[in-house]
Amino acid sequence: MSQPHVPERSVAPDDLVPQVKNVVLVMSGKGGVGKSTVATNLALALSRKGLRVGLLDADIYGPSIPTMLGIAGQPLSDGKQIQPLERFGVKLMSIGFLLEDPKAAVVWRGPMLHGALLQFLKDVAWGELDFLLLDLPPGTGDVALTLSQKIRASGAVVVTTPQEVALQDVYKSVSMCQKVGIPMLGVVENQSYYVCDGCSKRHELYGAGGGQRIADYAGAPLLGQIPLHPSVREWGDAGTPVVQAAPGSETAKAFVEVADRLLERLDAREDPGVLTIDRSGGQNRRLPITR
Ligand SMILES: Nc1ncnc2c1ncn2[C@@H]1O[C@H](COP(=O)(O)OP(=O)(O)OP(=O)(O)O)[C@@H](O)[C@H]1O
Ligand SMILES: [Mg+2]
Ligand SMILES: [Zn+2]
Repeated sequence: MSQPHVPERSVAPDDLVPQVKNVVLVMSGKGGVGKSTVATNLALALSRKGLRVGLLDADIYGPSIPTMLGIAGQPLSDGKQIQPLERFGVKLMSIGFLLEDPKAAVVWRGPMLHGALLQFLKDVAWGELDFLLLDLPPGTGDVALTLSQKIRASGAVVVTTPQEVALQDVYKSVSMCQKVGIPMLGVVENQSYYVCDGCSKRHELYGAGGGQRIADYAGAPLLGQIPLHPSVREWGDAGTPVVQAAPGSETAKAFVEVADRLLERLDAREDPGVLTIDRSGGQNRRLPITR
């Protein structure tokens, strides 16, 4: 398997993770739309392409990564840096690893929370990575704001579900990113449709077109549509993301496609002066121009 070309973000002299080529925020204004599911499966999809990937659970109050990747335990520290845990070749850090009782609530207030997040970037021995994905908590984005002041991220992947009530909050987070200069990499529409066993039709339970509308608003491509499927939750709860557990499944393929589109998007942005000519004779499903 040949490794995909990995573009690099520009790194300021005081960058917290200078050895990381791409820092991608996985976010949404809305809770429960599948940010953590997308972040974990995207991490696995990129890792399975042979890329070096880290995943930081930036949801300090409601960490999901330990459950979704079936991993617990105390990370080791040499007094200077904390060693990330590792699962399926992906380096992981979560506040969940540091809590003695995983069911206990974290009662930190804002400044401590942001301090903890910055420490996770700076004090974890991430090493050289092609991608560090950050699974962000729901909300308008003070976490994204803190990060934007400390690190030049490659950009944000925004997760939404198709229905209009979800979209309102997602618009806000897109607009917040734009205000603080976090580039929009693209949109993932999760729970887009359901394929039942009986008829293999796409049942659009939550309506259609929501992801595309957010993408239009964000001026970024729709990176993919992930079906609603029980296996996504089951594998998430079982600690093996569906991309790893059932790589041949339709849902896994949808996540891999998101990874492909993300790499294309980063590539296209790296050299915005160059327009590629599509010589595929219509084989490519999209126009050769990426916004
Ligand atoms: N496409 C899908 N099909 C079936 N279940 C899904 C799908 N996407 C997410 N889920 C399930 O929905 C629940 C919420 O997903 P997840 O935790 O990823 O959302 P989130 O946006 O990270 O939530 P929070 O805002 O609390 O951080 C989980 O149980 C997850 O397994
Ligand atoms: Mg989450
Ligand atoms: Zn049906």
